[in-house]
Amino acid sequence: MTRKYLVAGNWKMNGSLKANAELLSSIAAKTGEVAGVELLVCPTAVHLESVGKLLPAGVVLGAQNLSEQTKAGAFTGEILGSMLTELGVRYVLVGHSERRSLYGESDLRVAEKFKAAQAQNLVPVLCVGETLEERESDQTEGVLTRQLNAVIELCGIDSFANAVIAYEPVWAIGTGKTASPEQAQQAHAFIRGLLSKRNATIAGSIRLLYGGSVKPDNANELFACADIDGGLIGGASLKAADFLGIALAA
Ligand code: G3H
Repeated sequence: MTRKYLVAGNWKMNGSLKANAELLSSIAAKTGEVAGVELLVCPTAVHLESVGKLLPAGVVLGAQNLSEQTKAGAFTGEILGSMLTELGVRYVLVGHSERRSLYGESDLRVAEKFKAAQAQNLVPVLCVGETLEERESDQTEGVLTRQLNAVIELCGIDSFANAVIAYEPVWAIGTGKTASPEQAQQAHAFIRGLLSKRNATIAGSIRLLYGGSVKPDNANELFACADIDGGLIGGASLKAADFLGIALAA
């Protein structure tokens, strides 16, 4: 099964109109070198429109979050999926560990957001991963199972035909401490295996991204792993040379 590599930049709460324009312009100058890779940028919600207007060819737009609601209404501060679609957004992150840990998003809430995204023709990028404490107490597979099953139970296995999963061990996010290729591959194989028990075709075609301190100098060995189909990049996505350096490894 051939899966096109996806390299996604999660800009988190960074950027400005000027900095984003400069970053996009630097990316645009070099996208030709990574033509076989799908590139995605996820700016803050307030920057989606301006970034959308400056998107280089071959780069698609993603959001970092959306509401679990599916109809407009009195939900102060929230953003409806259709509002993202209207701006040309194609992908949306759901269940990033920062949303889960800092903003209390439960497995059920993440699953509701996954469902809301698909209801608005957005492709959810479902983020899953264990904390250091969970890894050290041998709970990694249990955590991944719980996080994935929450979505499978609410949305069904078929929903994964149009989704991406990002495995991000929480202990590797923004720490400079990357999972070894063996650790990452083991988790990715576990995720694909879990899906495969329900639907082998979907398991074989879904893209699984690795996230957590990916840099140009470690991307090669991570992307060489059989079940790693790209990366969800935080800090390194804010520098065009690093982001494209990572994409070149795909
Ligand atoms: O969404 C991206 C991940 O949280 C990884 O962030 O590359 O800064 O470790 P990082």
